[in-house]
Amino acid sequence: MKLFTIVGARPQFIKAAAVSRVIAQDPEIEESIVHTGQHYDANMSDVFFTELGIPEPARNLGVSGGGHGEMTGQMLAGLERAMVEDKPDAVLIYGDTNSTLAGGLAAAKLHIPVIHVEAGLRSFNKRMPEEINRIVADHLSALLLCPTQAARNHLKAEGITAGVELVGDVMYDATLYAIEQSKQVSTILADLELEAGGYAVCTIHRAENTDDSERFARVLDFVEREAENQPIIFPVHPRTRKMMEKVGRSTLAGVRLIDPVGYFDLHRLLGGASLVLTDSGGLQKEAYFHSLPCITMRDETEWVETVEAGWNRLWLESDWKSPRHDIPDYGAGDAGARTIAATKAHFS
Ligand code: UD1
Ligand code: UDP
Repeated sequence: MKLFTIVGARPQFIKAAAVSRVIAQDPEIEESIVHTGQHYDANMSDVFFTELGIPEPARNLGVSGGGHGEMTGQMLAGLERAMVEDKPDAVLIYGDTNSTLAGGLAAAKLHIPVIHVEAGLRSFNKRMPEEINRIVADHLSALLLCPTQAARNHLKAEGITAGVELVGDVMYDATLYAIEQSKQVSTILADLELEAGGYAVCTIHRAENTDDSERFARVLDFVEREAENQPIIFPVHPRTRKMMEKVGRSTLAGVRLIDPVGYFDLHRLLGGASLVLTDSGGLQKEAYFHSLPCITMRDETEWVETVEAGWNRLWLESDWKSPRHDIPDYGAGDAGARTIAATKAHFS
């Protein structure tokens, strides 16, 4: 079976790595990775391929920046050409970025079955580009692999029941791998002279937080207020860096702003942290996997189990819920294997 894997943004490299490791052991599947080019800085792209041993992309379309239509349109044209030339049997797409949407749309129009990893997530906020991307991707997909029961329920509510499987969260597989590896290779705690337990980790990159200057100011104020309780280490996404410069807030009191870090360094940082502040989808769960409380700087979250279990709270809610308990949905670090097992069963 010839499988096309479409990636383009940082979280997709991490998710695809967990599945590619399983594919590499399977002689029946030939994987060809197509990088759309959406993320291109070395610390947003190459570092993940190198650290996580992701096979070299067969193609890089070099599409990045611009408006949503321009970016998605260019990806669509490039992906269609690649699919027509290489004739994959199925196309694997991840998450909810513009690369996900373009990959799903190009394949569906060519009648190539689409497999969506991280299907069924919903924020019910259609102002988020990700919500539009994931709804369309789900409705185009032949096989919908859900990370949580809530995701499966959302698909059912939209009338999608065929080809839906609960396989767990590939980010948990990725985290387990990174925790082990990071202990061997990451020197970030020593490099930044950090004491375990004495700092929080922050990331912000969502367009809904950065692109409106009033909202962005409230988010940065919130981070500075939290920094009064403990120092904050903040690896800054390029979108956020640009906006901080634009609004004249290139430094934040009590906050150490650093460039984006590799996946092993990120997990080493989490290993020594006491709190996570984020608007990232991935970080909310990684905080839970590290048994860290998380404040999500958003008005809603797709990862409702983390909130229900008391590990995560939305920034405008003041109280932590209790009691805390474990979340079975994410699986046992075998979501990559279950993804491939479901794929083979579906196409046999
Ligand atoms: C994208 C995804 C978002 C995901 C995030 C992960 C969409 C609509 N958004 O958001 O769902 O959570 O990735 O990080 O697909 N840039 C650089 N260097 C890079 C990458 C980006 O300078 O390596 C700049 C781009 O030029 C652009 C800005 O950052 O101006 C935003 O990049 P873009 O890919 O459009 O969106 P993200 O905010 O990264
Ligand atoms: N991440 C990283 N280095 C950083 C910041 C984030 O390796 O400097 C990882 C982080 O562990 C997270 C992943 O990037 O799981 C997800 O990316 P991002 O937050 O950009 O996207 P989202 O998950 O919100 O789509």
